[in-house]
Amino acid sequence: MSRTIAICNQKGGVGKTTTAVNLAVCLAVLEKKTLLIDIDPQANASQSVGINEVQEEDIYEALTMAENSGEITFERLSQIIKPINPEYKLNCLNIMPSSPGLAKLEMELVNAANRERRLQKIVKTLGANYEYIVIDAPPSLNLLTINTLTAANSVVIPVQCEYFSLQGVAELLNTIKLVQSNLNSDLKIEGALLTMYDSRNSLAKQVVEEVRKNFPGKVFNTIIPRNVKLAEAPSHGKPILLYDIQSAGSQGYIKFAEEILEIKNG
Ligand SMILES: Nc1ncnc2c1ncn2[C@@H]1O[C@H](COP(=O)(O)OP(=O)(O)OP(=O)(O)O)[C@@H](O)[C@H]1O
Ligand SMILES: [Mg+2]
Repeated sequence: MSRTIAICNQKGGVGKTTTAVNLAVCLAVLEKKTLLIDIDPQANASQSVGINEVQEEDIYEALTMAENSGEITFERLSQIIKPINPEYKLNCLNIMPSSPGLAKLEMELVNAANRERRLQKIVKTLGANYEYIVIDAPPSLNLLTINTLTAANSVVIPVQCEYFSLQGVAELLNTIKLVQSNLNSDLKIEGALLTMYDSRNSLAKQVVEEVRKNFPGKVFNTIIPRNVKLAEAPSHGKPILLYDIQSAGSQGYIKFAEEILEIKNG
């Protein structure tokens, strides 16, 4: 069975997509069979691995399969999952892409059965085929995020090393508790991941201390540095490991992936 990790924080621009994409790529490079699920209508994770066109079918069709064809099967879901560009030689990585059309789902499912468990069903149907499933959540606490938390075994919370970065964390933790009590009692908080750390900025050091106080014993040792290569890579449709493996950003995400693997083995 796969281990499903949700990358969540309703605050925008904190490094969720960068973390989801690069964690999934690092796991695939380590030959772990990995599926990256993009459940954000912004589709930034899809674009970051070179999927820029809207596909004939994407996660929207997967999440509404119950209405449209009645049965959610491995075969039908497999048609929606895409391999990554073969030039990248990431044979262990697949993606379930997203597109802006996903934004209408919330309204469409307002009275639908099992509306919170759509992604869980998809993950369960695909789980035997993957060792890791990494989900890139949108910047909101809406139905898509509830689906993400309900489908996951654990959640990683990226926190940007900036002022205001802890704003909203209380609501996120509250939502996680609600999901744990009502929808997914197995959900664990894997930890907070500090992102975009700039050692020249004294405020960043204070934020690190604040985050450690807020998540006692639950902050990853790896701190992702602010690194321009990480910001450039998506515009080339490439994950950082393929764009510049020597960069501080690559090294940060390799270390983070190693920590994730240690948790499993430890
Ligand atoms: N460590 C980093 N160093 C420099 N730039 C970064 C870093 N991490 C992310 N970025 C850049 O910051 C911006 C926001 O990052 P990202 O898209 O990963 O955040 P997000 O939380 O997924 O945003 P959203 O809430 O819109 O989904 C992007 O332009 C990204 O390339
Ligand atoms: Mg994002």
